[in-house]
Amino acid sequence: VRQISQHAHSEIVGMLPEGNWVTRAPTLKRKAILMAKVQDEGGHGLYLYAAAETLGTSRDQLLDALHTGKAKYSSIFNYPTLTWADIGVIGWLVDGAAIMNQVPICRCSYAPYARAMVRICREESFHQRQGYDSLLVMMQNGTDAQKAMVQDAVNRWWWPSIMMFGPPDDQSPNSAQSMRWGIKRVSNDTLRQKFIDATVEQAKVLGVTLPDPDLKWNEERQHYDYGQIDWDEFWNTVNGHGPMNKERLATRVKAHNDGAWVREAALAHARKQQQRQQKEAA
Ligand code: 3HC
Repeated sequence: VRQISQHAHSEIVGMLPEGNWVTRAPTLKRKAILMAKVQDEGGHGLYLYAAAETLGTSRDQLLDALHTGKAKYSSIFNYPTLTWADIGVIGWLVDGAAIMNQVPICRCSYAPYARAMVRICREESFHQRQGYDSLLVMMQNGTDAQKAMVQDAVNRWWWPSIMMFGPPDDQSPNSAQSMRWGIKRVSNDTLRQKFIDATVEQAKVLGVTLPDPDLKWNEERQHYDYGQIDWDEFWNTVNGHGPMNKERLATRVKAHNDGAWVREAALAHARKQQQRQQKEAA
């Protein structure tokens, strides 16, 4: 329940950074793509809450854990989206990291979670592609200011994106059990390395530089060496003190409270329908 529900929370909170730009998308096409993506994330959250509920917990319990700060969501969503280029970089790096982390879960040991992942990963591929495409357009046809905007976004989102894979394997208290249970099939560091190796090449095609002077191909390891991750920043953000943690949680709590009347109306309607069916059956 811990991993699946926090995954679900991540999807729902993950709608906020990008939702912030739906009204400011530069073209109707980009607006439609972004709306579809944000809507997808909401759907991912619902699949995952449904998968978590199969383990005997309720939606109310899951949401209460999020709203009271007891449950976590991915640290990456606590960073602000300052320019339109952030939206492309989130698609490229954040959804790219999510795919790297989620594909192994398609074959995890808990079928409801694995099934949800199959559908989610298909949609994540669209998310990653649309982000990369929007950056490629700006880098190939954009003005110098637009290219600088893309590079600035890459500089801000690179390190938080590689933090998404979690703490180093030797500081990952859940990994041993999660691997024994078969819900974690590849370690945090292995997936992080795989993501870095793939993304460095994509950055070259895009024509952006990654903000890590220690990023260097290691012929012997057959992987890219990379610089020291700021784990203080990571744990600070995970523990609720990141740039946007308070705003993100307050937004989710407000949305939940503002939607109470919809839930009450739906439950009242369901009760009425049930009473009508019982009366007809009698
Ligand atoms: N953000 C917030 N908390 C994190 C974190 C992160 N990036 N990485 C680790 N943590 C937390 C863990 O939840 C754990 O805290 P807990 O015990 O209170 O739950 C603690 O740090 C120690 O980490 P562990 O490595 O021991 O924890 P896990 O074994 O659970 O590994 C994980 C962390 C790799 C994120 C794993 O939980 C996982 O694979 N989860 C499923 C995938 C997922 O949730 N991805 C989040 C992104 S979803 C997304 O990006 C949406 C997309 O559409 C953009």
